[in-house]
Amino acid sequence: MTNNKIVLLTGASRGLGQAAAQIIAARDEPITLLATSRKAEHLNLTGAHKDTVIEYPQLDITDNDSITCLYNDIVDKYGRVDVLINNAGSTFEKIDNSTFGPEIVKKTFDLNYWGVVKMIEKFTPIIPDGGRIVNVSSAASQQDDFPNEELKARLFDEKTNLVNLNALVEEYMSASKTSDESDGWLKHGFYPAYSTSKAFINLLTASSARNYPTILSNALAGDLPKGTKAKTPGTRVILRLAFDDIDNVSGKFWAGKTTADTGPGDVVEDWPGKEIVWDLLPDGASSS
Ligand SMILES: NC(=O)c1ccc[n+]([C@@H]2O[C@H](COP(=O)([O-])OP(=O)(O)OC[C@H]3O[C@@H](n4cnc5c(N)ncnc54)[C@H](OP(=O)(O)O)[C@@H]3O)[C@@H](O)[C@H]2O)c1
Repeated sequence: MTNNKIVLLTGASRGLGQAAAQIIAARDEPITLLATSRKAEHLNLTGAHKDTVIEYPQLDITDNDSITCLYNDIVDKYGRVDVLINNAGSTFEKIDNSTFGPEIVKKTFDLNYWGVVKMIEKFTPIIPDGGRIVNVSSAASQQDDFPNEELKARLFDEKTNLVNLNALVEEYMSASKTSDESDGWLKHGFYPAYSTSKAFINLLTASSARNYPTILSNALAGDLPKGTKAKTPGTRVILRLAFDDIDNVSGKFWAGKTTADTGPGDVVEDWPGKEIVWDLLPDGASSS
């Protein structure tokens, strides 16, 4: 068995996941980085520490067999995962809301929500005490303010567990059949299905923290502003939540003050409905 820190990262082939893989490999500590993607893409990374090992396993987080196959390999080879970084995620809808409906909500949640649920359920049994779960959410999650008080109370019930949360996802699927927002669900504006899937990641993170009190589970506003590579706001927060002393904070959503904030982020309390500050990047390019 290795003494290396075992880090399992999803969606490492490009974007934020690739930037995260680069900065994890560059850490001066012995790490075994499992930089996964659907096509098991080789990123040609070199570890900064002499004992660091980097592997590129295949993983499709929407496919139970793929998850089980990776799980079995990890159990055989390493017996544990110290840090699980759920980065893989995407948006499928058009910005003009013309594609919004149950189909797009299902496709979005299959990847962004159910994929993360599957990963957490499968791997938490082999995450040791003090291990970390880092869920890449989005500033877009803040758009959801759930104006229906009864719905909001059910979503933010301190006792909410995975079963209740999953039932609420089904409720959103049903609610997406109409564009009427009086039920409190987000159906218009900036990528509503995507934004709501990320709001559910924040709620799932809080629920995981309650279910697995020996693991530090946190979510963050992922972001990859154009023209920047590693050490972007999202990747810096990923590093902090994965490796730094975070004073045992668990179940929270973390973000910078603006989308161009390159600091390590902070806990955002009361994130629903909070204004997103889309700032200009230092080089003048705007983030998207
Ligand atoms: N970019 C932004 O501005 C931004 C802002 C806020 C939050 N985020 C979040 O940050 C995360 C990464 O976003 P990104 O912009 O870097 O995305 P991206 O460039 O589109 O990359 C998405 C990653 O997810 C992987 N992926 C897609 N479907 C998958 C599946 N079924 N199983 C496993 N992996 C899968 C892709 O790998 P393969 O296709 O190679 O398998 C790829 O590595 C996402 O969760 C996203 O919601 C991004």
